[in-house]
Amino acid sequence: MAIEISKRAKTIKPSPTLTVSSLAKQMKAEGIDVINFGAGEPDFNTPDVIKNEAKKAIDNNFTRYTNTSGIIELREAIAAKLKRDNNLVCNPNDILVSPGAKASIMFILMTVCNPHDEVLIPSPYWVSYTSQVEMVDAFPVFLPTTMSTSFKINAKQLEEAIFSLKNPKVLILNSPNNPTGSVYIREELEEIAEVCLKHNILIISDEIYEKLIYDGIKHVSIASISDEVREMTVLINGVSKAYAMTGWRLGYAAGPSEIIKQASRIQSHTTSCVNSITQKAAIVALDEGDDSVSVMREEFKKRRDFLVSKLNKIPNVKCFMPKGAFYAMPDVSYYLQNNIKGIENSIDLCEYLLKEFKIAIVPGSAFGADNFVRFSYATSRDNIKEGLKRFEEGLKKCISRVR
Ligand SMILES: Cc1ncc(COP(=O)(O)O)c(C=O)c1O
Repeated sequence: MAIEISKRAKTIKPSPTLTVSSLAKQMKAEGIDVINFGAGEPDFNTPDVIKNEAKKAIDNNFTRYTNTSGIIELREAIAAKLKRDNNLVCNPNDILVSPGAKASIMFILMTVCNPHDEVLIPSPYWVSYTSQVEMVDAFPVFLPTTMSTSFKINAKQLEEAIFSLKNPKVLILNSPNNPTGSVYIREELEEIAEVCLKHNILIISDEIYEKLIYDGIKHVSIASISDEVREMTVLINGVSKAYAMTGWRLGYAAGPSEIIKQASRIQSHTTSCVNSITQKAAIVALDEGDDSVSVMREEFKKRRDFLVSKLNKIPNVKCFMPKGAFYAMPDVSYYLQNNIKGIENSIDLCEYLLKEFKIAIVPGSAFGADNFVRFSYATSRDNIKEGLKRFEEGLKKCISRVR
């Protein structure tokens, strides 16, 4: 090919979570009995009340471009949700509705980052943050966390990192977290917010798993700590995970007026607006969808309890009990550091398990955590049971390959 691919495009790696998922889907389509633990989406159907609203929108010919930032009824519904769930008073004009929270984060990064700015990201992290930061020519700076601190950063660690940097600009906080399932409590958020205020760091608070939280823990949005913190925070959320609407593509950013206004300009020249039908459906999701969320949450909790307790019974596997989202991330370092032929890292292990035991799990290296693998429990309990059997067998067999 005569056209050279840009340097920017060349630096972007494919999303490993989507790669595993599509490989598993392909194997399934070929008739291979694969158990897929790779999914980053609920396995439930979108609730009927939401689907019916979309059908109505089509029948009413609500099928044209809308204004860039989203129809006003939807932005009002989001503002009402922010007040109800997060105790945040937000002007609908300070909300930008985008085609997915992924797009929301990208547009905010494009709005605030200059080349060589540094973006702080607690690690393990959601795969797309790194690529998105790189796409705006900024630098991701990772703040490592471990199971012993429940995979959470603290204020001291954050401040030390900020002191060591030249152009620290943004902190991306994700609670509940993908992939670890850790959830920050109010006191922890207060300390982190104080450091960000002191050093003029914008917080991008990704709260997409807000509704999927267990054990009676209450989700706290860092933006709700104080008016000052709210002015330094862009809250990101959406309908994908809570209402089983991943394919509908709708997320939003709520934050300081100037940032939202500029991000909206970027959206106007890229994706224009979210599809009109999804916007109508999302109003119903936000206003009436919470009963369906409770049902899904209950089921996720049962699967989590089963999966994590079984994982912790497998020899030399340790798994943190996730407090939110629908992922479990066991430490499998024993199997990576034991001189097993062909298995030196989490990618090797996942490839081996997929090829020989027909289970798809995501290598921890995708999240900056090579000693781990990620299971999504957005799959049936029967699948989890059978998949765990294969996982345990796979690990047992690989130990017999010690060199
Ligand atoms: C942490 C996190 N943020 C954002 C997203 C993107 O969600 P959306 O479907 O709204 O783009 C995901 C999806 O996997 C996620 O895990």
